[in-house]
Amino acid sequence: MSIKKVAVIGAGTMGSGIAGQVANALVEVWLLDLPSVDAENVNALSQRGLERLRETEGLMSKDFESFIHTGNTRDDFHQLADCDWIAEAVVERLDVKKDLYKKIDQVCHAKAYISSNTSSIPIRLLVEDMPTSFRQRFAITHFFNPVRFMPLLELVRGEDTSQQVMHDLGNFCDKELGKGVINCLDTPGFLGNRVGCFAIQCALLAAVEMGLSPVQADAIYGRPMGIPKTGVFGLYDLIGIDLMSDVAQSLLNTLPATDPYHAESKQIPLMLEMIENGQTGNKQGHGFYRTVDGERQVIDLNTGEYAAASRINLSIALKAEQQGVIHLLQDDSIYGEFAWRVLSRTLSYAASIIPEVGNDPVGIDNAMKLGYNWIKGPFELIDEIGVDYFIDRLEKDKREIPPFLAEAVGSTFYRIENSQLQARQMGGGWAEISSPSAGARFNEKRQTLTPRNSCDVASWFDLEGMAIVEFHSKANALDADSMAILADAIDNVEADGMRGLIIHNDAQHFSCGVNLQAVRAFFQAEDMHGLDKFLDHFQQTVHRLSVADFPVVCAPVGMSLGGGFEVVLHAKQVICHANSTMGLVESGVGLIPGGGGCKETLYRWVEQLGGPEDISEAAWKAFMNLGYGRTCSSPILARQQAMLRSNDRFLSNRDRLLPEAIQAIELATTSASEQKAFHRPSLAVPGIEVFTAMINWLRKAHADGNLTPHNVVVATELARIVSGGDVPAGTMMSEQDFYDAERTAFLKLVATDATRERINSMLDMGVVVQN
Ligand code: NAI
Repeated sequence: MSIKKVAVIGAGTMGSGIAGQVANALVEVWLLDLPSVDAENVNALSQRGLERLRETEGLMSKDFESFIHTGNTRDDFHQLADCDWIAEAVVERLDVKKDLYKKIDQVCHAKAYISSNTSSIPIRLLVEDMPTSFRQRFAITHFFNPVRFMPLLELVRGEDTSQQVMHDLGNFCDKELGKGVINCLDTPGFLGNRVGCFAIQCALLAAVEMGLSPVQADAIYGRPMGIPKTGVFGLYDLIGIDLMSDVAQSLLNTLPATDPYHAESKQIPLMLEMIENGQTGNKQGHGFYRTVDGERQVIDLNTGEYAAASRINLSIALKAEQQGVIHLLQDDSIYGEFAWRVLSRTLSYAASIIPEVGNDPVGIDNAMKLGYNWIKGPFELIDEIGVDYFIDRLEKDKREIPPFLAEAVGSTFYRIENSQLQARQMGGGWAEISSPSAGARFNEKRQTLTPRNSCDVASWFDLEGMAIVEFHSKANALDADSMAILADAIDNVEADGMRGLIIHNDAQHFSCGVNLQAVRAFFQAEDMHGLDKFLDHFQQTVHRLSVADFPVVCAPVGMSLGGGFEVVLHAKQVICHANSTMGLVESGVGLIPGGGGCKETLYRWVEQLGGPEDISEAAWKAFMNLGYGRTCSSPILARQQAMLRSNDRFLSNRDRLLPEAIQAIELATTSASEQKAFHRPSLAVPGIEVFTAMINWLRKAHADGNLTPHNVVVATELARIVSGGDVPAGTMMSEQDFYDAERTAFLKLVATDATRERINSMLDMGVVVQN
């Protein structure tokens, strides 16, 4: 059955998020909560859910609110009658949920699917009072918060749930809601929270018992381990210390006393005090961390007092981040000891719950990557560390070796066989793996390919006659080496007559821009000639993408900012993830986009406004976007701001980007192709009159206190480029003229003390001075 109309019951954190994601898929949804005691507005609770969605950017565009109807369970329950899927997301109370299911069963149609978002109640208890006809249509759909941004969906089958229900719900959540669907057994905490909660409880307790401060612990339990930089204490603050404590408690209630989770869940008195005092994290403005008058402060775990949270730069943390976690584990400082304690326990725990939760490592690894944003899952980490090293050290610590780990001795959990990635199965044997959405993640694909050319920051591969360029530096910052790899791939596609080129990577962000360290190195050496050459090469390389006589697809995820977005802008077609953020943010650090970004912004506004007749308006629009460093947090918004074009597409599931990009390249040889080269014609620029008007606008904004002096300097250069500057209206400018104008402005700004000050402050302190 296809799902055409949905109802979500419970408009709290999760229910509103689920309704939002259904609306993002352009599917009609009723969002119901209890009738409010507030006589004036009986729907106050569900409407608050809608407000929450606005506050958390849960919708791709405000326009999508029209897909959501808010109501209450007393007056609007009959609306469920023609809903194909009813998702229950009310409070985590068995009695409340059971009572609701009885009512749902009386109104819903005979084929409707029903699911619960419960995080801890076993499915058999949820439906124990319900007739078989209901139980067959019932599953758990466990979303993660925030629903729009967290890709994991755990789909849990009950004893009676029909295969059709599992298939249809899985399909809808994958293709329409963009989730990485993992089928789980009905075990406590399923996969993500079972291992994820263990890991954070373990890290928290280790930090407390070893006397590490939150700042020290988060410096290790974070990027050096391939875990988000929020760390453990930051994550507690983000989720809410009270909520985390409830989740931990509910796992404790359901796991048998022999489960190692109990040993890691000792009560920490300070945390209980904090919950009592309302110091529950970001939502209350204070938790383990807080910000007072712009100063970030951290709690002392012994005294409960706050003090400045000075950044610490640990060389071992950086080394582990860049060269692998093994360096951290082998470090004999307290940091190495902390890392070993947390990782050894967490990874062993993951191995110990096989086969209880499944027969192979894939589900747990995917759950941790999709639900907790780990770069590698526990078993992938053991493979990286080395199974034998890991077992040896556990034995030295006199620790038990879980059977699934013992089976891997002398081997790995994953291997490549006949160019296919396979996973070890409990009890022996290997099975080919496919990603949760049956897509083709590049992370997995890459392991079966040999790079045709590679350096520290980028590589390119030949995938069935197509070149795939992958950036892989920190934050995928671009420098001369990344552009050299891109240029080499273009050369080879041309020379070898390959089928096309795809620029894609599986990192959190496609690219956060040109590496500012590289820009700083140029100005510190006063090598303006070198900087000009770098920019020219950048421009010419991206230009080749736009005019290539072969198909070029860019498939970005996460952030594409600055130079990263300039690469995106020059692909013949963009197929991006629905949660992409894009924009040209160079003005913030005192620069202008120097890789064709100003040029493309202007041409795209000309296109969007219907042609060159409105060149003045196009110039103003470009000026505003570039001057304010505007970013768009969804492809819908990006389209409205002329950042994406009509042939560009987006997908809700990031695991489907690569297959779609491949298909677009294949299609490009047919008449249905959406790809066109864009040789930009010369433009008759508006010239001096618009340039002067822009300068006057800047002067006024400065006089009104809205722009700093250097903002005016930077924006003046932007105005000069997009208007044509001090030239008569109608002066023709070619694409190359715009490239040249960008380079001239970039070099001029880099020569100023104010821009250097901004870049230095950004690189050294992580904040930009407002000069
Ligand atoms: P919440 O407390 O934010 O929202 C629950 C909503 O349900 C409230 O608006 C409440 O008024 C409403 N409600 C209570 N009884 C109702 C009834 N009989 N009929 C209609 N509405 C009713 O809770 P949250 O966090 O959204 O959790 C909902 C479910 O999702 C729970 O089962 C929870 O375990 C699960 N969950 C929560 C996650 C989280 O991070 N908050 C993550 C994954 C699952």
